[in-house]
Amino acid sequence: MAIVIAGTPGVGKTTVARLLAERTGKPYVDLAEVVKREKFYTAYDAVRESYIVDVERLRGYLEKTLTCNEIIDTHVVEALPPSKVSVAIVLRLDPLVLRERLIKRGYPDLKVRENVEAEILDAVLISAVQSIGEERVYEVDTTGKSIAEVTEIITQILTKNGNLYRPGGVNWLEKYYFLIGKEGELFKF
Ligand SMILES: Nc1ncnc2c1ncn2[C@@H]1O[C@H](COP(=O)(O)OP(=O)(O)OP(=O)(O)O)[C@@H](O)[C@H]1O
Ligand SMILES: [Mg+2]
Repeated sequence: MAIVIAGTPGVGKTTVARLLAERTGKPYVDLAEVVKREKFYTAYDAVRESYIVDVERLRGYLEKTLTCNEIIDTHVVEALPPSKVSVAIVLRLDPLVLRERLIKRGYPDLKVRENVEAEILDAVLISAVQSIGEERVYEVDTTGKSIAEVTEIITQILTKNGNLYRPGGVNWLEKYYFLIGKEGELFKF
């Protein structure tokens, strides 16, 4: 069964998933590349500088082509056929750190803001739980951890025990509640 490395854009999916694929010898699949290559999009959003994914067509393609041995890198977890996935590991990152990373990438302000909000509100985690089922979803706070450390935690979840990483462990709203409704760092765009 395929292993999914998920998370908001910029959290480190590609970096970690590639290393994990190297270590395990499993094939690596970047769904963003598949979407572009196979044209599984309905339009290009020029404001956000991103493709709008045709989730149904992407899911149909994955149903047919996945061998169930892959490590899949994506933030569009709803496109995954649940029957082909063993676990989804959602990487999390402190929203303020994420914001700096996305600004450094040169993302448009709106795109930075929407992605930071999605991270705060657990959007990818919720989507993973809804499409794959809570018992097969884990979340790992990568803040302050090296790529090697994150990969080590994922290996532990996959081979031993993932009890420390059940959904619900990360709570950005609690950490940053004092900024909400105020003119603070988090919402200053
Ligand atoms: N644990 C980490 N510590 C520090 N920097 C990291 C870590 N993981 C990734 N990075 C850096 O963060 C940036 C974003 O990483 P990466 O491209 O892997 O994210 P992504 O989740 O695949 O993003 P996207 O969804 O846009 O493809 C890269 O510059 C990468 O080197
Ligand atoms: Mg990536």
